[in-house]
Amino acid sequence: MNQSFTETYQGLLRQAEGLFDGERDPWANAANAAALIRELVPDLNWAGFYFLRGGQLIVGPFQGRVACVRIPLGQGVCGKAAQRRATVIVPDVHQFPGHIVCDAASNSEIVVPLIAQERLVGVLDLDSPSYGRFGPQDAVGLEVLAVRLAAACDWRLAGIDGFDAGWTGRGGRREVT
Ligand code: SME
Repeated sequence: MNQSFTETYQGLLRQAEGLFDGERDPWANAANAAALIRELVPDLNWAGFYFLRGGQLIVGPFQGRVACVRIPLGQGVCGKAAQRRATVIVPDVHQFPGHIVCDAASNSEIVVPLIAQERLVGVLDLDSPSYGRFGPQDAVGLEVLAVRLAAACDWRLAGIDGFDAGWTGRGGRREVT
């Protein structure tokens, strides 16, 4: 493993904490997180979010070229990670059945699920022009970022499935009024 990767993610997490501090808006925090990732993590051509809205993943804040807007659960790398609620690392996207091409420059990809109060909120997606770009250290760094982002935001503000006005954020239950 490469020490500089650890330093990259330590720096990323430190700066993200500063940005999230006192800010609960999901769009604002996700936009700044995407910008931070793109600035600090080397060798990427796309970094951003898809959020679970209306039963499908819809593109959110990102840095990179124009992306496909809607991804059904279970489809593509993003839909698979969302469905499995697990990080998916794809060393060669051309070998991944059902991979959805957004930027032809992408050759490898990592997708990390965003879980808040045990509910799927969306996914964090990074693409690289290099093959085999992502490894366990990227997974750990991005998973920690995803946990921090999930905890920092009030997901009722973003129209995320399951987080309506009745959501209390306590104990993973919704209050019935
Ligand atoms: N490649 C992704 C689609 C999103 S873009 O890479 C930005 C997928 O297969 O789900």
